[in-house]
Amino acid sequence: MQGCFKKTEELLDEAVLIDSDNCVSNVMAGNFKILFGKTVSDYIQRAKRFAVTEKEKIMCDLLNYQIEGKLAAALESCVSIVNRWPEDLWIAKLGNLFAFYLGKNEISVRLGRLALAANSESHLAYGMLAFALEESGELEEAEELCRTALGMCSEKGDPWAEHTLAHILHSQGRIQEAAKLMSTFTHHWTECNSFMYTHNWWHYALLLLDLECGKDELLSIFDDHIWNKDRTFIQDQIMATSFLLILDLRKIDYGQDRLDSVVSYINNENEFCVELQSDLLRLWAFQKSGNIDLANKLLQRIDDYSTNSTRSTLLKSTYMPCAKAVVEFGSSNYREAVSNFEKCDFNRFQQIGASKEQSLLFIEVLIESLERLGQHSEEKKLITEYIGMKRIENTPFWSEKIRSISI
Ligand SMILES: [Fe+2]
Repeated sequence: MQGCFKKTEELLDEAVLIDSDNCVSNVMAGNFKILFGKTVSDYIQRAKRFAVTEKEKIMCDLLNYQIEGKLAAALESCVSIVNRWPEDLWIAKLGNLFAFYLGKNEISVRLGRLALAANSESHLAYGMLAFALEESGELEEAEELCRTALGMCSEKGDPWAEHTLAHILHSQGRIQEAAKLMSTFTHHWTECNSFMYTHNWWHYALLLLDLECGKDELLSIFDDHIWNKDRTFIQDQIMATSFLLILDLRKIDYGQDRLDSVVSYINNENEFCVELQSDLLRLWAFQKSGNIDLANKLLQRIDDYSTNSTRSTLLKSTYMPCAKAVVEFGSSNYREAVSNFEKCDFNRFQQIGASKEQSLLFIEVLIESLERLGQHSEEKKLITEYIGMKRIENTPFWSEKIRSISI
């Protein structure tokens, strides 16, 4: 990882440098750095040494749990801090992140409401609660909050609230409206870290894809924005790989060079089984680009990891069957792909790091597998459910698909 989230990290480093005897700045730097796999032993030691207040002591516990990988306990610490000090947006945001990975949207909403009540002048608090509500399906309130956040900072914008608004409108089938809005926000993203920058462009490109805009526009967004920020960063890799996969499913030629370029950055075996959603996408890219040995190696690692993990039950109902299905799909074994997909609990994909929008991509792979098998009644049933979730029946791609199956 180079360059991404640099500004936040630089600010935290600066805070520790100026005030190294401060517990809070050390915990915050540790909270942040550990998310990106960095060693934080110095930070926790210093934080503990200078912890005086009750809140500082809970913050040290929180960082400790993060270091030990105890996500549920880390979330508990966040909840206990936000209950008593709801003005702390940093801890509320961290709690949101842990709750997302644990599939506990109700806790995200609760934290968001507490934080907003104590920070009603901050557009960030509105955006935070809006995303938690969106992932919980509370779209009306989520939209209202996004628009309030955006009204509070119309000049500089709020890339997170803009992103959440794209989620909401896309899932309501308000695609034209969403694409138009996102096109007016793009200049707000230039100062963003690489995740927010590529992720917002990725959402915008998906909207354009559903509107069937031209291939050239889609590929230039890929070249200039999705795959042009920090290619070594796993989140950028997720955006790029998933975008190529979706172009592939929509039968849009993106050129072998683009796929090879992505594969040359995602083939680092040290990064296998770190960000689980990315492994599923890697498998597709390896298969598609003819790197079969690498795909097999990754699949074996996924199998071992799922078997030995403390989250084995979850992984065996999401990560592992989906991985097997993607490999079978890539090998044109559609029957096997479908039977592995049938073992997948798509509702729990959030717990392997995929938002609703991201997990729907794998449902598209399943739909494609059914189509290749000629299982039209099953395909139709699934498409009906799928478009029910996304309300995309009026988009050109899906209306044509429904029409062709209905004949
Ligand atoms: Fe998103």
